[in-house]
Amino acid sequence: MSLIKLHDKSFETYLSEEVIQKKIIEIADRINNDYKDKNPLFIAILNGSFMFAADLFKHIKINAEICFINLASYRGMKSSGHVTTAIGLDQDLYDREVIIIEDIVDTGKTLNEFLPKLHHQQPRSLKIAALLHKPDATKFPLTIDYLGFSIPDKFVVGYGLDYDGLGRNLKEIFQLVP
Ligand code: IMP
Ligand code: MG
Repeated sequence: MSLIKLHDKSFETYLSEEVIQKKIIEIADRINNDYKDKNPLFIAILNGSFMFAADLFKHIKINAEICFINLASYRGMKSSGHVTTAIGLDQDLYDREVIIIEDIVDTGKTLNEFLPKLHHQQPRSLKIAALLHKPDATKFPLTIDYLGFSIPDKFVVGYGLDYDGLGRNLKEIFQLVP
């Protein structure tokens, strides 16, 4: 177990590189089986999912496409709610088999706001692959079709996830030390 410091906080190892990589192979195997001859389109949500997306995609053996998007939230002129727009989504999703790649589902708010916009384009199917899920923090329930790990409601970093910009480069996932 190793302890690291990012900014003012300490983090300890939670999921090792080996455990993460083994799980990713399991997820890829399931997708390879479920999407044979379907040419799925993976949509990876930046920044957090870049490492998970890259490692997962390396183990995809069927024909598949991938694109990377960023979600921007802004306040509508009249409403008080957030509106999420996708930057970089130039593919036509009509009749496509779409798989969203997310690093972590925390409250579920991001995907809850974003998924209806994708449904609007009438994909043939729309599934979610997420490396991590915090069920105790989730306020907007979602079906995660391909899940890596259910984790406690504690802040984590590493493997793409950051704490105020730092930690994305780590090969393991670390948990905040209270
Ligand atoms: P949600 O909308 O609350 O489900 O979470 C949205 C985003 O918050 C995730 O995609 C992550 O980028 C970020 N996030 C949530 N929990 C954590 C965490 O524990 N560490 C780092 N980023 C997180
Ligand atoms: Mg994210």
